[in-house]
Amino acid sequence: MPYYSDEILDELRNRNDIVEVVSSYVQLRQRGGRYVGLCPFHREKTPSFTVSADMQMFHCFGCGAGGNVIGFIMRIENLGFVDAVKRLAERARIELPEDTGRGNAGQAKLKEALYAINQKAARFFHAKLMSDEGGEARNYLYERRVTGRTVKRFGLGFAPAGWASLCAYLKEEGHSDSEIERSGLALKRDNGFADKFRNRLMFPIIDAQSRVVGFGGRVMGQGEPKYLNSPDTPVFNKSRNLFALNYARKAKTPELIVVEGYMDALALFQAGFENVSATLGTAMNREHCRIINQYFRGKTVILLFDSDSAGEAAALRVLPIMAQQNIPVKVLRIRGAKDPDEFLVKYGPDAFAKELTGAKSPTQFKLDLARVKYPNLDNEALVAYLNEAAYVVAAVDDPIERDVYITALSQETGVSAEAIRGRAESKTAPPLDFEHSEYRNKPQNIKGVPEGVLSASRNVLYWMASHINFYEAIRDNLSADEFPLPVYQSLAREIIKIRDAGRPAGPGELTGKFENLTDQQYVSLVFASVFPYNNDDEIKNALNQQIKIIKTNYINRMIEESKTNNDYELLQKWGETQRNLPNSYI
Ligand code: CTP
Ligand code: MN
Repeated sequence: MPYYSDEILDELRNRNDIVEVVSSYVQLRQRGGRYVGLCPFHREKTPSFTVSADMQMFHCFGCGAGGNVIGFIMRIENLGFVDAVKRLAERARIELPEDTGRGNAGQAKLKEALYAINQKAARFFHAKLMSDEGGEARNYLYERRVTGRTVKRFGLGFAPAGWASLCAYLKEEGHSDSEIERSGLALKRDNGFADKFRNRLMFPIIDAQSRVVGFGGRVMGQGEPKYLNSPDTPVFNKSRNLFALNYARKAKTPELIVVEGYMDALALFQAGFENVSATLGTAMNREHCRIINQYFRGKTVILLFDSDSAGEAAALRVLPIMAQQNIPVKVLRIRGAKDPDEFLVKYGPDAFAKELTGAKSPTQFKLDLARVKYPNLDNEALVAYLNEAAYVVAAVDDPIERDVYITALSQETGVSAEAIRGRAESKTAPPLDFEHSEYRNKPQNIKGVPEGVLSASRNVLYWMASHINFYEAIRDNLSADEFPLPVYQSLAREIIKIRDAGRPAGPGELTGKFENLTDQQYVSLVFASVFPYNNDDEIKNALNQQIKIIKTNYINRMIEESKTNNDYELLQKWGETQRNLPNSYI
């Protein structure tokens, strides 16, 4: 991947005004210092999509999408970071350094070589699995109930434990060092190559044209990381490939089942559900939807993610994208097992077939999620539940569908349908969704971070970036590590780096430090949710409270950690720190 310097990216952003760029996709109207329009990333009737010329950022208060101009192009054009940069460079006629260009002869030749290498590697791994060396791996497969037939059909393999056996083989086959390196199957070491995959069970990833494009490799038994995947190469991208797609395409069912794991896809296939594909360790996203539209148009997708909150979050996140791309979808929450593979082992294919018929519409799925939050429907919980349910129902476009759910809610709760309908109608642009989506969008460990701590963090980061006096006071009193999310910790570090270099830290530049769209979204939230304070004293007051909230949350995390580690000395220390936390910092 080409590397672009900060200077180039700065120039790119300066020469691509976000208001102009967005205007060629979205009709914008000026409102105050901002521009508003209908969000192109989710369906809405009242505009909650805003673009700020000052900050050179966009943010949607409806779906939470946000970022700078590069992020906008990535989303709207379905492009990766590099391609979005290229697109904007063309638009502004900026010359990019070392652009290898697409479609040129060198690139085509490289791709051919990479397909050949992957193909040979797959054969090599498969032969190893079947050889004496593969005994342990075959045993592992046996324990996981994977049959010999499945092994053959998926071309499963075994990467031997040796240091560079695959690399040696590929060299023998006449491949150059640079091709081998670009294939992602080798790691460069001082004294040559090492195999990337060693002592692992290998799952070849095959594209729609039946070419091997990459691999997933699982440790056998316990060990970290559980899976290793091929890195992005000119022929492979985790977001643009699905495992078992080649077989799923051939299935004649009206549905496509999408699961999260290699083992889940194998198990379903083996149990006779051949219409299954798995994402490759990334949450399902826009790219996957594009593939599905390309190869499975008209089929209903059944999302069958793991039965944990991460699986639910992944489903919630992709549903709006699927709606936007008109992909019919249902969601199945599997019961009594952590994932489909485990379910099949425990209960068998017939029970699974029965579960499948219980897949829910997106609306019902969201209502179910709201419902399980309130196990005891006392009066207070009932009000809270119906409030959440009203948000869900309000988002349903079809009036008949909406009425069906309202009637069901009324029957369930004994509250009149009129009252529920009234509440739903007052909630057209769910403000909660914004917080909700953030909570739900948790990339890794947002679980358990209360919204209050997140909004305190956003505000503190905003003032660090925007106000030189507050910046210094905050920097001296709060360290980057104390923020609750990795992305906010990195953001704090970036602000400190830029500010300490004597420059103001603008949102455009800051967002540009994050290539990942979810991260960009978090960063854009910082600049989108500024509280309306009247004067510096009010801001100071708020900051003092918010810093304390962040610190308290951090200390609580440390206390939990000390408990887990049975470190009583540390526990004491943190307890004391907590008791002595000052109220004022600035
Ligand atoms: N994954 C990954 N890297 C990891 C862990 C997981 O890429 N370190 C991806 C793999 O594609 C994996 C999927 O996420 O298949 C789901 O992970 P998980 O549920 O942990 O694994 P399973 O597929 O269920 O595998 P197993 O049953 O063998 O634990
Ligand atoms: Mn599993």
